[in-house]
Amino acid sequence: MTAADDTSLLHGGDPSADLSSFRQALGQFATGVTVVAADGETGPFAVTANSFQSVSLEPPLILWSLRRQSSKIASFLQADHFAVNVLAASQTELAGHFARSGGDKFAACEWSRGLHGVPLLAGVAAHFECAKVAEHDGGDHVVFIGKVERYACFDRSGLIFAQGRYALAISHPGRPSDLQIDGHPRDDFFLPLLARAYAYLAGAFSEHHSAEGVTTAESRVLAFLATGSGASAEAIAARTFLGENTVQDALAKLIAGGHVAPRPPGALVITESGLALLGRITARARAFEAEKLADLPAEDVAATRRVLRELAARGGG
Ligand SMILES: Cc1cc2nc3c(=O)[nH]c(=O)nc-3n(C[C@H](O)[C@H](O)[C@H](O)COP(=O)(O)O)c2cc1C
Repeated sequence: MTAADDTSLLHGGDPSADLSSFRQALGQFATGVTVVAADGETGPFAVTANSFQSVSLEPPLILWSLRRQSSKIASFLQADHFAVNVLAASQTELAGHFARSGGDKFAACEWSRGLHGVPLLAGVAAHFECAKVAEHDGGDHVVFIGKVERYACFDRSGLIFAQGRYALAISHPGRPSDLQIDGHPRDDFFLPLLARAYAYLAGAFSEHHSAEGVTTAESRVLAFLATGSGASAEAIAARTFLGENTVQDALAKLIAGGHVAPRPPGALVITESGLALLGRITARARAFEAEKLADLPAEDVAATRRVLRELAARGGG
C-alpha cells in the first residue's frame, strides 16, 4: 500500500509546500521538553527546547538545536558550558515561561548553579551539565553537541510534547492479561482499566474531529475562545496545553475559515461560525459518548462519572 492509498493520510509530499503541515508531521514524533540554560556576562539565560537527543553513551554526548533567529543565539554560541533541564510532568508553566522572550526569566523560578555556573532548575525529572564540544550547521538552526560532565536523575515523570501539545507519559495499556497479583486480577486495578478505557475512547473520537475538518488542537482553541473573548495567542497556549506554534497554526486555519476573528490589538474572538462549529463538535462528543455507553445501565454510568469526577478533582483536574 502506498501513502496515497491509506485513507488516514492527512497530507504529505514536498515539505517546502506547506511548512505548518510539515511541522505537524514532525510533531508525530513524541519528545520530552527541556530548558537549556547557560551563564553569560549579563547573567543566566535559557530557552525551552524539545530538540534534545541522546547521541552517545561512551563518550556521553547529547545534542540540541537552536533557531538562528533566536535572541539567545549569540549567547549560546559564546557559552562553553550549558545545562539541559529535563522538565517534569507538572512543569508546563515553566516550559511556557522559557519559551517567551524578554524579562528576567530566572527571578520567577527556583534554581541553583551547577558546574561552571550553569543554571539548574528545581523540580525537574533530570538534568545534564555539559561542556560544549561542537556546533554544526543545521539549516535555520545551529546544532550544539555537549559532553555530559555530570547528571542527576530524579524520581519524577518527564513532561511529553507530542502532536504539538503537552502530554503525559502513561504506560501502554498492553493486552488484557489474566495475570494475578496476590490473588487480585492484575487487569482489575484502576490504573490499567483507566488506561485501556482511555485508549479505546480517545482513538475512536479523533475521527469525529476529522469529520468536522478540524484537528484536536483547533477544537481545543475554539473551546477556549468560547469561554471568554479577547484572548491572546500566548494566553491560549498557556491555558490549552498546546505549544505556541500549534496555537499559531490552529489560529491561522480558524481565522481563514472564518471561525475566529482577530480584534486589534492582539485579541482574538470566536465568531458565529466558530460557535456553530464548536456546537457541532460538542454534539458529536455527546452522541459519541451516548453510543459507547448505550448498552450499560444508566446508574452504573452515573456512578462511574461521579467516581471519575472525584478522582479528577483530587488530581487538580
Ligand atoms: C515545547 C517547545 C519546544 C521548543 N523547542 C525548541 C527548540 O528545540 N529549538 C528552538 O530553537 N526553539 C524551540 N522552542 C522555541 C523557543 O523556546 C523560543 O523560541 C524561545 O525561547 C523564545 O525566545 P527567543 O525568541 O529569544 O529565542 C520551543 C518551544 C516550545 C514551547
